[in-house]
Amino acid sequence: MIMWIHPVLQTMAVLLSLYVLYLGFVRFRFAHLGHKGIIFQWKRHVAQGIAVMTVWALAFVIGLGAAWNSWHVLGVTEQHYQLGLAMLPLIIFGLGSGFVMDRVKAKRRLLPLAHGAVNALLVLMALYQLYTGVFILRDMVLG
Ligand code: HEM
Ligand code: HEM
Repeated sequence: MIMWIHPVLQTMAVLLSLYVLYLGFVRFRFAHLGHKGIIFQWKRHVAQGIAVMTVWALAFVIGLGAAWNSWHVLGVTEQHYQLGLAMLPLIIFGLGSGFVMDRVKAKRRLLPLAHGAVNALLVLMALYQLYTGVFILRDMVLG
């Protein structure tokens, strides 16, 4: 049972991240492409963005715990492990920049762009984690 916690939480977070990215893209079109008449759902983007990134970070630790429990060593999953590690500093930047922009309102250009680019990259990385994670489940955990 315990081995399902990490895959299930991360899969739900990846799916929700696609919606959070969509909300951010609406903001991008308004702020940088000059599209008018669209409303950025600010509070929803912030609340659901925080939910996604908190789960990514917490379930990262749960994944480490599950791997330790299964194999008594870390890094067995190689690419999945390394990409997970690489995501950590980006998650910190994505959350940190988001908090700053939410708490200290101002007209900005570069920080939203950096926040959007880093977080879009994180969504891609998380989708790839889903892809490798399914094979790990099939071949290394259940197989
Ligand atoms: C999966 C997570 C996230 C993704 C994919 C994402 C993506 C984006 C994108 C693409 C933009 C538009 C950037 C631009 O207009 O150049 C944006 C804006 C914004 N995001 Fe996020 N974001 C995420 C998480 C968060 C979190 C956790 C927070 C707050 C703690 C946050 C707060 C904001 C705010 C306040 C803006 C508007 C900034 C402004 O235009 O002044 N985001 N986000
Ligand atoms: C944001 C996305 C994710 C991150 C950051 C992440 C990170 C990690 C890390 C760091 C480990 C420990 C690996 C090791 O020590 O070799 C791990 C294990 C694992 N991950 Fe993920 N992961 C993510 C998404 C997923 C998804 C979506 C699935 C499956 C659908 C998955 C399936 C697994 C499995 C099966 C293990 C082995 C745990 C066990 O022994 O039961 N992961 N993950």
